[in-house]
Amino acid sequence: MKISVNGQDYSIAGDKPLLSVLRDEIGMLSVKEGCDDATCGTCVVIAGGKLVKSCSRNASTFENQEIITAEGPMPCHRVYRLYARAAGLSRVGKDIQSALNKAVAYGLRQQEFQQVDEWNRAGQIDKVVRIRGTPPVRLRERGLRDFDEVPPMELAVLIQSLLDRGDHTLDEPLAPEPIFRTVLAAYGSQRLTLKVRQSLERANVLREAVPAPF
Ligand code: FES
Repeated sequence: MKISVNGQDYSIAGDKPLLSVLRDEIGMLSVKEGCDDATCGTCVVIAGGKLVKSCSRNASTFENQEIITAEGPMPCHRVYRLYARAAGLSRVGKDIQSALNKAVAYGLRQQEFQQVDEWNRAGQIDKVVRIRGTPPVRLRERGLRDFDEVPPMELAVLIQSLLDRGDHTLDEPLAPEPIFRTVLAAYGSQRLTLKVRQSLERANVLREAVPAPF
């Protein structure tokens, strides 16, 4: 049987819970084991476009479906929303947010995560975090993310790559309006709301800090 994890195919013998296949056979130690009875949400991955507790389903259920074990950099508020959804909660209340702030701080102290202040805002919730050793930017489809869950540096990389390709210049009349609309379209969205515009303006400022090799 073959499964695809983070864009790479793996051949798996037999059928076991997805969690043990990911950790023990493929070596994806970023997928954590907690309760092992589908309660805590620690082992969540994205499989077939949905959040899945990997301890609760066998790997064979996901043959021919893409499994993503770690999304790449994301703002803490997305991490918190994903945690709440996986735990069956409808929203991130103050108590949950406080507990998760502490969990992120602990992970940073243990050097499990890395964190960047891409928004230059106070507080933990807008900081962009990623699993230690993973790329600082991953340019990908918007997928299940709300627009405010796309890290500004990812948007900056997309804007820069459109400029490099010659699709746009920043000398256009009303620049950078056309390029903002192209970025929106690339993410399958059309509404250039005030909040979206602020995200894109912030990303445009960050373009100078776009890391190589983008
Ligand atoms: S390990 Fe707790 S839900 Fe899977």
